Amino acid sequence: MSTAIPIPALLPGTPVYKYVLKHRIGSGNFGEVWLATDNAVGHDYAIKILRPGTPVNQRLREAYIGHRLAHNNLVRVHQADVVNIGGNEFVIIAMDYQPEGSITKLANPSGYIPLPEVIRIGIDILRGLEYLHGENFFHNDIKPENVLIGSSRQGMLGDYGIVGISADGSSVPPPSVYRIHCAPEIVSGVGINAQTDVFQAGMTLFRMLVGLGSLRDKFNKLGEAKYYQAICGATLVTASDFPPYVPNRLRRIVVKALNPNVAERYVSALEMRRDLEKLNYPGY
Ligand SMILES: Nc1ncnc2c1ncn2[C@@H]1O[C@H](COP(=O)(O)OP(=O)(O)OP(=O)(O)O)[C@@H](O)[C@H]1O
Ligand SMILES: [Mg+2]
Repeated sequence: MSTAIPIPALLPGTPVYKYVLKHRIGSGNFGEVWLATDNAVGHDYAIKILRPGTPVNQRLREAYIGHRLAHNNLVRVHQADVVNIGGNEFVIIAMDYQPEGSITKLANPSGYIPLPEVIRIGIDILRGLEYLHGENFFHNDIKPENVLIGSSRQGMLGDYGIVGISADGSSVPPPSVYRIHCAPEIVSGVGINAQTDVFQAGMTLFRMLVGLGSLRDKFNKLGEAKYYQAICGATLVTASDFPPYVPNRLRRIVVKALNPNVAERYVSALEMRRDLEKLNYPGY
């Protein structure tokens, strides 16, 4: 856990190392994301400023991973620097800036995203995952806030903060857990692999279809222990939990992605993508 060392007075116009901050885009547990101009090359980047509290090497890890990824459905990381601000070492990671932000912006006032968009973005997420898994990385933090909208309106998976790194594609312990999307194999301590990302893609699709806040509401209502029981017992999300306009074939895809029995879950992101691609609805 990082200790809460505040970032000293970061304001628009502030020079930080070779960057000049423009505006804050987001903030998380570990720091802030800003749109900033890199004065060395005269180019704008989204920079993630990670505050002190965890070892520098640990904070550089997501940059190391992101820099290895070159794919239209994965946010590109260009470089990372360790910078002294007010006597503390901050890590600054420079990424391509995606001005449209995350897919949470696509939700209507009822909190869900239109069906054709869900299918299209679902396919994009799975494409990104296929590439990631080919590098023996497991994303482990797939959720609407971590899916950005690219320049051709494609879905782009970002935030490599808790990616699992495997030598050969076999399971590894999760560096951290996003509890709302906690897969059964994390609950049981087996670890994460490509099928864990399939599970999390399923949870993300469910939220996009039913309401971005739907699973958080269930988590708060049930409490952590009962929520995990429901995940492991395949009762958290069933085919009857979708609004009427969601076609049965799409419900079955999501439910299959969430199967606690990995022998019955999609074996790969590719297999799940193929099923989504078979859906053919007007507008998609
Ligand atoms: N490259 C980018 N372009 C545009 N917006 C971005 C970019 N990267 C991140 N953001 C925005 O900033 C938010 C936080 O980024 P990110 O998820 O990488 O940080 P985080 O600190 O890990 O957040 P959390 O701990 O909440 O997951 C994202 O949800 C997104 O809205
Ligand atoms: Mg995030």
